[in-house]
Amino acid sequence: MTLAAAVTASAQLKLTADNIDQIVREMTLEEKATLIVGAGWGSMNAGSVTASDTRLVPGAAGTTQPIARLGIPATVLSDGPAGLRIEPVRQGDSQTYYCTGYPIGTVLACTWNTPMVEELLATMGEEVHEYGVDVLLAPGMNLHRNPLNGRNFEYFSEDPLLSGKISAAYVRGIQSQGVGVSVKHFAGNDQEINRMENDARINPRALRELYLKNFEIAVREGKPWTVMSSYNKINGKYTQQNHDLLTGFLRDEWGFDGIVMTDWGNKAGTVDAVKAGNDLMEPGAPNETQRVIEAVNNGTLDIADLDRNVKRMLQYIVKTPRFKGYDFSNKPDLEGHAKLVREAAAEGMVLLKNQSDALPLQGGNIALFGLTAYKSIAGGTGSGNVNKAYVRNISEGLEAAGFTLDARLVDYYAKYRDFAASERALGAGGRNVLLGEAVLPEIAVNSQAVRATAQRNDAAVIVIGRNAGEGDDRRMTDDFNLTAAETQLLNDACAAYHQAGKKVIVVLNIGGVIETASWKEQPDAILLAWTPGQEVGNSVADIITGKSNPSGKLSMTFPVNYLDIPSSANFPYNGQPARQRGVPGQQREPVKDIDYTNYAEGIWVGYRYFNTAKKEVSFPFGYGLSYTTFEYSKPKVSAKNGGFTASVTVTNTGKVAGKETVEVYVSAPEGGLVKPESELKAFAKTRLLQPGESQTLTFQADAYTLASFNEKASEWQTAAGTYTVKFAASALDVRQMATFKGKAKSWPVKTLMLPETPVEEIAVK
Ligand code: BGC
Repeated sequence: MTLAAAVTASAQLKLTADNIDQIVREMTLEEKATLIVGAGWGSMNAGSVTASDTRLVPGAAGTTQPIARLGIPATVLSDGPAGLRIEPVRQGDSQTYYCTGYPIGTVLACTWNTPMVEELLATMGEEVHEYGVDVLLAPGMNLHRNPLNGRNFEYFSEDPLLSGKISAAYVRGIQSQGVGVSVKHFAGNDQEINRMENDARINPRALRELYLKNFEIAVREGKPWTVMSSYNKINGKYTQQNHDLLTGFLRDEWGFDGIVMTDWGNKAGTVDAVKAGNDLMEPGAPNETQRVIEAVNNGTLDIADLDRNVKRMLQYIVKTPRFKGYDFSNKPDLEGHAKLVREAAAEGMVLLKNQSDALPLQGGNIALFGLTAYKSIAGGTGSGNVNKAYVRNISEGLEAAGFTLDARLVDYYAKYRDFAASERALGAGGRNVLLGEAVLPEIAVNSQAVRATAQRNDAAVIVIGRNAGEGDDRRMTDDFNLTAAETQLLNDACAAYHQAGKKVIVVLNIGGVIETASWKEQPDAILLAWTPGQEVGNSVADIITGKSNPSGKLSMTFPVNYLDIPSSANFPYNGQPARQRGVPGQQREPVKDIDYTNYAEGIWVGYRYFNTAKKEVSFPFGYGLSYTTFEYSKPKVSAKNGGFTASVTVTNTGKVAGKETVEVYVSAPEGGLVKPESELKAFAKTRLLQPGESQTLTFQADAYTLASFNEKASEWQTAAGTYTVKFAASALDVRQMATFKGKAKSWPVKTLMLPETPVEEIAVK
């Protein structure tokens, strides 16, 4: 080839799925350094924190940078996780671009229904695809280490197996539509206070068995296109710059072959991030590109490291709809998705109490108490807040289902909302929330007025609301614990209605765990509705009327007191005065729970602790009632390569159709490592069983799933001996058992991410 021909050929060289190596060879250093840095925080749209390239998809969180010469398009990244987050209204455009507000992650986990989650999430994937987005920044899947983490609503569970399996289903669902996800926030981002700088100090066993295990399952079984590193440090090092984490665990141990991107910020260590295996700096800034160029030029960054990341970026780009030139419609099936959301939300709600079959209720006059009954909460705030076309309030759902609401109460709450709005307009500050709306504190209702409502209504429904979100954690006072106004209302209503021989139903429209032990005896029924998406009112009404039979079960423990939770000893549960949060750039003595957090509870998180320590809880992990009853029979277990296969038959012994989740906990033989009393190793949910109908559910867990991590030997190990397999309706409700003989096995692994000095852990056993 002549020189001229070569120049022409290279001028025509465009990226294809088959010429990635050639493209890398062709790229200049500047182009490489540009490709691995996002396009930056661009012009801000109203209501949006991050609108990096308004020409592509307004309201998207970020984009990658195009290189036109080589046919490399920009790709679009957008939040997640309770639906696609983009701007709903565009200047000079009469079309709207609303997205469906799906149930939050916690609700998905409480369905325990992985096939359903996968199907539902395929519809969210359609919205991502049809609105021209390439990657959804979701699912959020940090473990519920402590119930006050402000972003727990986005996350799934206190248990890594449940979290991992639901997450993998989420990933498969979205990616079935030809778009990608970014599993986040990898890892140890378990509090929001000082989330950018906090050092999560975690010993290897807890790290591997809990905080990484859910990601491991999601990566192995979901095969996400991308993973998002978190803001915080683990054991002294920013996760985004941690080679052990991003390469040692993620790629070498778990076989991840996609790209890693940073969470949204610009930390000084760009070059370390590149070396660690972080392929994309988001949202990206020119000084990051500059740092990379300089480092290659001065020899502190090996070009081979940069080329490796660039190659992975190109492998990602060729998979995207942008690259393939997909002609997106901007018209996803929002109506169809809303119907599915209504059903899925109901399936994730948990019936906590139903004394004397107080529920279901058919029609009648209802005294509906609580601000969030009339302005219901669909999901949390922050980047996880979706711009949906509407939120169906609980009041609306109940009315549509045939209930008549007490008009004087309706009026009372409406006037209070108006008053609060004018008060804000006058300048009274509210709680500072990032994107979305703060929930007004509950208003007192005069005791005599409550009594009067009991004369003219058939039942009382009290809605208690809580919201939380990105950038802050919840508090123990007036948040985890009820406020004085809420307690008073509960007391007054229960006294008045019970005296009149009428029922009180409590609906919890909350995003995270609250205190229930002190008041749960009072009402007749308690429905944990969560913040389950835009159809909240209809889904609640479906359960209250019995149109849907509740089948959700808790994906976390409801303790008696907040301080019963071991991690409460190391969590900023009172919030923190601003002065303790530090001033950027200013040095100070590290402050406990803010600058660093000791995971001193080790593996004793959630039911692992409560079951083993035999500590009373308010509602156990895995708990949830139904309008029907189920019997478990014919438990079978057989050993298989050190693991087991098992089955149990579930029969609907009640009067209405329903679904049941069977949780399989395993107690390991003594003699190996100290282990929790039992651990969830498998679960499955029946189809809708008619009265009298049975279904046999099957389960399996391999030996590796049964293993615990031996820190000294740096290996996963199973002990030889008799394993007890418990078929349970909750962590405390074992219905059938069977045993199998397990073998001693071990899996040596590299020693990774050790803390500078081991964290001193509590002993439970
Ligand atoms: C959040 C991420 C989110 C990103 C982009 C960050 O502040 O932590 O979850 O995906 O912003 O909006």
